[in-house]
Amino acid sequence: MNAFPQLEAQLRAAPKTWLVTGVAGFIGSNLLEALLRLDQRVVGLDNFATGKKQNIEQVHRAVTPEQWARFTFHTGDLRHAQVCQQVCHGADFVLHQGALGSVPRSLEDPLATHESNVTGFVNILLAARDQKARRFVYASSSSVYGDHPALPKREPEIGQPLSPYALSKYIDELYAAVGARCYGLQTVGLRYFNVFGRRQDPEGAYAAVIPKWIAAMVRGEPVAINGDGETSRDFCYIQNVVQVNLLAATADRPEAVNQVYNIALGSRITLNQLFALLRAKLAARNPSLAIPDPVYRDFRPGDVRHSQADISLAQRLLRYAPTHTVEQGLDEALAWYLANL
Ligand SMILES: NC(=O)c1ccc[n+]([C@@H]2O[C@H](COP(=O)([O-])OP(=O)(O)OC[C@H]3O[C@@H](n4cnc5c(N)ncnc54)[C@H](O)[C@@H]3O)[C@@H](O)[C@H]2O)c1
Repeated sequence: MNAFPQLEAQLRAAPKTWLVTGVAGFIGSNLLEALLRLDQRVVGLDNFATGKKQNIEQVHRAVTPEQWARFTFHTGDLRHAQVCQQVCHGADFVLHQGALGSVPRSLEDPLATHESNVTGFVNILLAARDQKARRFVYASSSSVYGDHPALPKREPEIGQPLSPYALSKYIDELYAAVGARCYGLQTVGLRYFNVFGRRQDPEGAYAAVIPKWIAAMVRGEPVAINGDGETSRDFCYIQNVVQVNLLAATADRPEAVNQVYNIALGSRITLNQLFALLRAKLAARNPSLAIPDPVYRDFRPGDVRHSQADISLAQRLLRYAPTHTVEQGLDEALAWYLANL
């Protein structure tokens, strides 16, 4: 049996209590939905900095009343240590997703990024220690690779951070390692590479490329490409990320713990290729849609040129086995955006 279906069966048979921070956000709300569908007890924390009530409402509609009754939501802020202690109480596992995302946002307001991503991180890490959570799984980022030129990216080879956001995620990794060394915590860091899927916010200055482009294309507006379009990314569908969070929380091999893992597909596509794929898929669904050619503009400061992960460590130690290719993910994501935009 594959590791994940086996884990799902085990969790259903013996439900656990999970704290999901950033639960009103894109990744957090997808984790919430997956956990409730598995009959788990979930405590969620969010301050709605970028998360949305409608993400949580959508999960409410997707699960049964019995499953929904196992969810407790707290409006609160990671920057407050006491709030973190409260929400961690009784949690078996912490899935820490709450943070201010976006490289450009961090360049504009580095202090806000630091407060939520670093101070907030230390608060929730210490709460996991004090409340005796079994394991602390947290969202890191491929931005940690900074200016290191190697492709594909392997976990030990990192360069200088290129933005306050990248630095905040790297500091988190260092704190997690110190938490393990000094307090005996069990931590697992997940360096996500460009995650996409349902409920990822298409609006605003800091929106991620896939939802932003889908929204523009559906409106018949031109898409803006930063640079020449040959910038490449290892896009990863949300279901793969959900899978690996649950595997990371429960992996029982000692060598799997207190590690940081690349979470992606292990392949890359350019922005030009992504544009062509989305245009073809949307045109196939709606032949009357007129999608203009993209507009090219300057490269964005702080962006790395190419990104591709070596995912063999997560495959080996966490038994991560991505179920969705980029194309399969785009099909599912497009169906959701067309129904919800
Ligand atoms: N989406 C990606 O491609 C990607 C890539 C790399 C890393 N990550 C990381 O994954 C995590 C989840 O990202 P996402 O894409 O779901 O973003 P998101 O913005 O949709 O979700 C983040 C959530 O955290 C909440 N939050 C922010 N600051 C908070 C605070 N101080 N207190 C309480 N809640 C707070 C926000 O309101 C939001 O609901 C983040 O840590 C992000 O840095 C995401």
